[in-house]
Amino acid sequence: MYEYHDQYKSARERNDVDAQARWARQLTWEIARHAVGEEIVVYPLLEKHLGAKGKQLADHDREEHMKVKKELHDLESLKPGTPEFHSLIERIMADLHHHNDDEEINDLPMLEPVLGDTGSKQAAQSFKTTKKFVPTRSHPSAPNQPPLETLAGFLAAPLDKLKDMFSKFPTAEEKAGAEKELEFRDHDAKAGRDANRSI
Ligand SMILES: [Fe+2]
Repeated sequence: MYEYHDQYKSARERNDVDAQARWARQLTWEIARHAVGEEIVVYPLLEKHLGAKGKQLADHDREEHMKVKKELHDLESLKPGTPEFHSLIERIMADLHHHNDDEEINDLPMLEPVLGDTGSKQAAQSFKTTKKFVPTRSHPSAPNQPPLETLAGFLAAPLDKLKDMFSKFPTAEEKAGAEKELEFRDHDAKAGRDANRSI
């Protein structure tokens, strides 16, 4: 996020409005990916493992996400290169700095020890999966399942619906199993090719 914001700022310094629009778009998607990943993976873990305190932290974080999502939604109707657009981008980043610091300094260090090594790795893997599912650009490789075609649609999508989608991914074990199958399949194919060659 911070990298994309830096790219946006340097485009602004050289008065390249087109690049500002592109980096702002990239930034927006990165924020959306971050938000969905945390809401689906991290906040439920806070609630599960840290009791009332976890619920309080998750509620607070969700509230801050909500504020940023609303700002991102407003950004969609502003024109890149205008002072209004720029000041909203800066407000979003200021809100995010505060929010991300909160999560990184308070929430995650509390969660990490109760998850344990395996739990932490599993959570990281799930987080990566959710982020991978949401592409980095809204066009042309935007997610094609309604209601995710547009950023506004994506931000407004009910979390339950997104959760359903993510729950349909194969598990890490299933994927490892499929890779093993592939090894045999390749051997079979090789055996077939060898057999054909010898005919
Ligand atoms: Fe967050």
